[in-house]
Amino acid sequence: MLPAIYTALAGLLLLPLLVNFCCPYFFQDMGYFLRVAGVARRVRGYARRRPVRTLLWLFQERARQTPHKPFLLFGDETLTYAQVDRRSNQVARALHDQLGLRQGDCVAVFMGNEPAYVWLWLGLAKLGCAMACLNYNIRAKSLLHCFQCCGAKVLLASPELQAAVEEVLPSLKKDDVSIYYVSRTSSTEGVDSFLDKVDEVSTENIPQSWRSEVTFTTPALYIYTSGTTGLPKAAVINHQRLWYGTGIATASGFQTDDVIYTTLPLYHSAALMIGLHGCILKGATIVLRSKFSASQFWDDCRKYNVTVIQYIGELLRYLCNTPQKPNDRDHKVRMAVGNGLRGDVWKEFLRRFGDIHIYELYAATEGNIGFMNYTRKVGAIGRANYLQRKVISYDLIKYDVEKDEPVRDGNGYCIKVPKGEVGLLICKITNLTPFSGYAGGKSQTEKKKLRDVFRKGDLYFNSGDLLMIDNENFIYFHDRVGDTFRWKGENVATTEVADIVGLVEFVQEVNVYGVPVPGHEGRIGMASIKMKENHEFDGKKLFKHIAEYLPTYARPRFIRVQDTIEITGTFKHRKVTLVEEGFNPASVKDTLYFLDDQAKMYVPMTEDIYNAITNKTLKL
Ligand SMILES: *[C@@H]1O[C@H](CO)[C@@H](O)[C@H](O)[C@H]1NC(C)=O
Ligand SMILES: *[C@@H]1O[C@H](CO)[C@@H](O)[C@H](O)[C@H]1NC(C)=O
Ligand SMILES: *[C@@H]1O[C@H](CO)[C@@H](O)[C@H](O)[C@H]1NC(C)=O
Repeated sequence: MLPAIYTALAGLLLLPLLVNFCCPYFFQDMGYFLRVAGVARRVRGYARRRPVRTLLWLFQERARQTPHKPFLLFGDETLTYAQVDRRSNQVARALHDQLGLRQGDCVAVFMGNEPAYVWLWLGLAKLGCAMACLNYNIRAKSLLHCFQCCGAKVLLASPELQAAVEEVLPSLKKDDVSIYYVSRTSSTEGVDSFLDKVDEVSTENIPQSWRSEVTFTTPALYIYTSGTTGLPKAAVINHQRLWYGTGIATASGFQTDDVIYTTLPLYHSAALMIGLHGCILKGATIVLRSKFSASQFWDDCRKYNVTVIQYIGELLRYLCNTPQKPNDRDHKVRMAVGNGLRGDVWKEFLRRFGDIHIYELYAATEGNIGFMNYTRKVGAIGRANYLQRKVISYDLIKYDVEKDEPVRDGNGYCIKVPKGEVGLLICKITNLTPFSGYAGGKSQTEKKKLRDVFRKGDLYFNSGDLLMIDNENFIYFHDRVGDTFRWKGENVATTEVADIVGLVEFVQEVNVYGVPVPGHEGRIGMASIKMKENHEFDGKKLFKHIAEYLPTYARPRFIRVQDTIEITGTFKHRKVTLVEEGFNPASVKDTLYFLDDQAKMYVPMTEDIYNAITNKTLKL
């Protein structure tokens, strides 16, 4: 009997060593899995409560427990949990009493990062209304589309966006939309002011009955993602998904005494669902800034005692490009959470700014799968965690980049790629990993679903991303398929850009794609065009048109004039070779043009411009 116990004991003591030796990442894998599983369990518990416990409930708990704790910092303004709670009560009441909104309605918010964004959102949640988070860079047709597809009745806009609002005002009025500026006055006829109405009403708590119908499947937010086709799509984020979003804050270890610094726009899921909601989850403090500034970044971190920063790859690159300063390491930042960071920038960032724990993650707003780099491995976005894989079925499958579709075998089924090879990430759609689709976009929702993948009738979410899993189970991001690319942290839909360029009178046909630029994350836009017969290229006209309809990050920086635009067997534009050929006038035979910001026109591309881009004297 005794020896058996000794053996068992010795085994127990030895086990960790053995495990460490054969599978060095066992404990990290296990720890990560347990944290994520813990989030899922807690959310299931919240779903069973009546009324269901939403993130709003947790915010109200925080406001009750720590009313005087600073919640939002912005410029020299500090708002405590209690202040935001009361302000959002007023918002809900004004929307209810004066604008006649009721639970189930949707309100679109069109503004930059400022505290009002947060108390409007919480106010809407108190009223059981959904908030559509419009990207403040979009204009005209795109703006109208985004507004209409979520079925909003009311538009709340920042007065700073007056020109953009006035541009779409006649169309909105035709649809009977009520439009308000988030200010106390309005200088636009047909647009009312909202804040004076908020000021008038009581700060009393909002009765639960105003949101009594809210369940975990009720839409809470609409967040726009650039589609692979056409205009942006509104991903439906329900209350359950809000909770899952906070899983990232849990997995990376946000703490109550953290101060989170967010310069990313709140209309994206990173700032809103990871930064802000992660802050509420822990009862921490968040610093908002309307715009990222590389020169102000560390001064802000010192001023507010920031401990957590949110990034996208290019943001950290800009920080590394600022001149060195003696106080570069004088700050309290302990952690950076984000995505799109490349190995070279990562190393330089740590060398310059000290030992900051970087949590690189992979997740899509509407996707049903995410990964996080929780081990010390440069370049990886996460691990193919054995335990996670037991619960969530995801796979990498063979993809035909030229045809832009998955490769199928003789029986019509998809083919898994072996380790070390690049494949398309797909994840089974289940109760645990649901896909809520896009508002007002049935066909777009269908397009993201992949059927009959490994057997008849099975259903997967198509991430549209090509990844690679190596022999040690580290996952690497490779590329995005099809018709989108990323530039300056924004997705650009090539078809959307092509539609706009195609409207110019001298353009016959357009093929838009992204080309890599040395020393930059993502790809920059390039359009290959075929001219209409007997028409001349007009660089001024083209610039004017594009600047009017497209945000800066989506404007094609280079134009290539071709005699014919090649198409594939399935009538799609052929892009692969064009991407490879890039924008070097020495190697591309066709005429090239360059978008010159200062001259406000497309100018002929020269060897000098090319050199200035590659030696970084010309900033893109
Ligand atoms: C930052 O920390 C320092 C030292 O701990 C403290 O004196 C200062 O008041 C803090 N600043 C803010 C904005 O919290
Ligand atoms: C992965 O995580 C480690 C540990 O925090 C970090 O040092 C490294 O930069 C990360 N890799 C990437 C690409 O973010
Ligand atoms: C970069 O290239 C431009 C254009 O050829 C040239 O004028 C400039 O001197 C170069 N700068 C450096 C630092 O090499």
